[in-house]
Amino acid sequence: MNILFMGPPGAGKGTQAERIVETFEIPHISTGDAFRLAMKQGTPLGQKAKEYVDQGLLVPDDVTNGIVRERLQQSDCDKGFLLDGFPRTLAQAEALDDMLSDMGKQINHVVNLKVDRSLLLARLTGRRICKACGATYHVLFNPPKQEGVCDKCEGELYQRSDDTEEKVGTRLDEYISKTAPLLAYYENKGLLREVDGEKEIDTVTSEIVSCLKGQAE
Ligand code: AP5
Ligand code: MG
Ligand code: ZN
Repeated sequence: MNILFMGPPGAGKGTQAERIVETFEIPHISTGDAFRLAMKQGTPLGQKAKEYVDQGLLVPDDVTNGIVRERLQQSDCDKGFLLDGFPRTLAQAEALDDMLSDMGKQINHVVNLKVDRSLLLARLTGRRICKACGATYHVLFNPPKQEGVCDKCEGELYQRSDDTEEKVGTRLDEYISKTAPLLAYYENKGLLREVDGEKEIDTVTSEIVSCLKGQAE
């Protein structure tokens, strides 16, 4: 199954992706995670991405498309994949269509996590991530058992540098102007599945699983 997760920053794409890829045994491809890893390693890609990510702006399409094309060609994507945070512009969506058609593949479901803008700031400023395994927590909504320590691997938790109030504002503006218009693109293709991302984390997971298994309306 080839799946896309869409939704504004903080909608829960990463949180839900962690769970869905376990259920369906497919790789989780997050362009945001790929950029953060490259930034940490200081590679040329990381240096380029940093100019944009640190400001909350989208990385240019040619850079982003290149890393996705390379990743989708790896053999673990043969049984399916979950793309989280890509595509985010019409040009990326069209490039993805071309990549997939070259590979004889197509997207099966586009899941849009709907969350009101008023909830996103609190979600993002309270988010904490494990340095070792990447698991996502929230200081209030999904706290680890011990403060600052990952439940899964005991790694140290950190806060993303773009999770400040100012950067979140820019990220939301980028989402509204460049990414939200893609919902109509996928609706027209009959692929869009809307899920209420404001419910409890477990409830959202069950609703996504139902959608993907075709049991929802
Ligand atoms: P990226 O890493 O993709 O960030 P994002 O889209 O801004 O989304 P987030 O990761 O912030 O949110 P999420 O939806 O994953 O939420 P999460 O599950 O963590 O991109 C970062 C940057 O990289 C971009 O700004 C851009 O610069 C660049 N980039 C990436 N892709 C790109 C592309 N395609 N093109 C160009 N540039 C690109 O949840 C958030 C918090 O809420 C957590 O604390 C979680 O515990 C909590 N939470 C989750 N679900 C619930 C719930 N149901 N109830 C209560 N709390 C919840
Ligand atoms: Mg994420
Ligand atoms: Zn961990």
